[in-house]
Amino acid sequence: MCGIIGFTGKRAAQDILLDGLQRLEYRGYDSAGIAFFKENSGHISVRKTAGKVSDLRAIVDEENISTCGIGHTRWATHGGVTNANAHPHRVNNVTLIHNGIIENYHQLIEKYKLMGKLRSETDTEVAAAVFDANFNGNPIEAIKKGLEDIKGSFAFCIMFKNHPGEIYIVRNVSPMVATYTKEQGAFVASDLTAFIEFTNKYFVLPEYCIGKLTKDGIEIHDLEGKEVEPEYLTVDWDVSTAEKNGYPHYMIKEIHEQPTAFANTVNFRIKNNLPDFSDDGIDDSLFEGITDVTVIACGTAMYAGNVGRSLIQNHIGLPVNVAIASEFRYERPTITDKTLVIVVSQSGETIDTLEALRLAKTKTDRTLAVVNVKGSTIARESKYVLYTHAGPEIAVASTKAYTVQVAAMYLIGARIGVVNNLCEKSKIESFIADLKKVPDAIKKVLEMEDIIRTYAARMANAHDAFFIGRGLDYTLSMEGALKLKEISYIHAEAYAAGELKHGTIALISEGVPVIAIATQEHVYQKVISNIREVKARGAFVVLLSKDEKITDPSVCDVHIPLPAIRDELSVFEAAVILQILAYYTSVEKDVNPDQPRNLAKSVTVE
Ligand code: G6P
Repeated sequence: MCGIIGFTGKRAAQDILLDGLQRLEYRGYDSAGIAFFKENSGHISVRKTAGKVSDLRAIVDEENISTCGIGHTRWATHGGVTNANAHPHRVNNVTLIHNGIIENYHQLIEKYKLMGKLRSETDTEVAAAVFDANFNGNPIEAIKKGLEDIKGSFAFCIMFKNHPGEIYIVRNVSPMVATYTKEQGAFVASDLTAFIEFTNKYFVLPEYCIGKLTKDGIEIHDLEGKEVEPEYLTVDWDVSTAEKNGYPHYMIKEIHEQPTAFANTVNFRIKNNLPDFSDDGIDDSLFEGITDVTVIACGTAMYAGNVGRSLIQNHIGLPVNVAIASEFRYERPTITDKTLVIVVSQSGETIDTLEALRLAKTKTDRTLAVVNVKGSTIARESKYVLYTHAGPEIAVASTKAYTVQVAAMYLIGARIGVVNNLCEKSKIESFIADLKKVPDAIKKVLEMEDIIRTYAARMANAHDAFFIGRGLDYTLSMEGALKLKEISYIHAEAYAAGELKHGTIALISEGVPVIAIATQEHVYQKVISNIREVKARGAFVVLLSKDEKITDPSVCDVHIPLPAIRDELSVFEAAVILQILAYYTSVEKDVNPDQPRNLAKSVTVE
């Protein structure tokens, strides 16, 4: 979703803004723009265009030495992808950029008599007009008064004419972080990657507090005018972690980072062969006496929850419900105070997941967030947080974050089993001992990259693809299908292998790829029978299984052997294969896998 960067300080702003926007490209966008104070003047210039940051670079002045400016990448919500709709928006004295949605913009147009006066179709320009109408020379008063009328989610970054060197920021729900360094000056951004080159310290702007950035520092006040002290956080990664480091795309780099990400997430949480969350400050009382689990998430995170559901329900014996956050919000929750609610989110900012968490909190105190981004809103609002340590994930299609989310779900499931005596301790110890072997198993899978790549050429010509499996393999199939459609634009569906014949098998015809996953011993033969059903109808079958060799070659067209590991853990190996397959299919089709059309990394609008 929209990316924001602002800088005011002791050096030229333009390169900081453009480089920051480039780093934010991964969030997904379709136009870009900057605004800056002209040198030694209170006048503001705007450059913006539909298209990429590279298109914006082509229209900016090379010799721009302004030291204060704001920049934006827009992901269209209100109004199409046009130059006029690109941010920044200027209305008289006010120039601003915005991430979020102004819900009452229709009423604002009426109240402020803006009909016929707006140049764009955006809700953002309406907000600029509202702040301008309330501006009598004092920026903070204008923002306060404007906020009395503006409803919705927003992160605003505002410059006022004749207030050179000053940037004002305010947010509600939509994410916004800021930082100050003595050497450079003050930065604001929608996420830390935009300014990680300069510092790994930042703070999250508290909601409904107004920040004033100047070259000398950042002052924050709440709406009553009381000073607010920012709470600085530090991340343990730097700019090199957020770069491609020789890989052609972030996605393949992140696929290769999985053994490390897994070990970083799991190893320090294993003590005496059992999962232990004491370093996370998670008290066992969270798990004691729970009767059921509800997992809430979106997209890949939700599919990670599905794998967790299968493990917890089948091995620990607790009922687990996995809810799509955007649906959960509008349903009647069946949660009680004995339900453990697990909210899964890489970014920790997905608006539907956040709102679902808020709803869940009205029913239970037992909320646990599995989040990758430190200090994100979901992490802060959940009672407990279990951070995954995947490092920054830049590619839109989630890979390493998924793997560590599943790992976290496995650890949580095992801890629930220990605390509630739902499973023999020795069984859990042996499971955990095997869990530690997963990074090596993933490394072996990564060695098969070149072979998997050759199958992608075959996939690239397909219009449709089907992913089938049973049990854990079915839960993984959903993620496999999502990955392929996200970045290759091939229509892909996941089906429980046994359910195919109740309709979907009608879509199988000569040459349609079916990716079959058969790693679960107790249903292996059943899946093989289901494969024969699609093979008999001409499907091109790619089979992932733990067999070293397939004795009956008529079962599949291509066999990808998985390294030996216990059944519950093959999901990690197979996931990596499906990621590599999707990645090379995308490359083969000449799609940029890091920035697929229409998608955003962090979905901060409903
Ligand atoms: C977007 C991303 C997905 C991600 C989903 C949930 O759709 O493109 O990769 O799985 O949001 O994001 P979250 O940050 O909550 O895990």
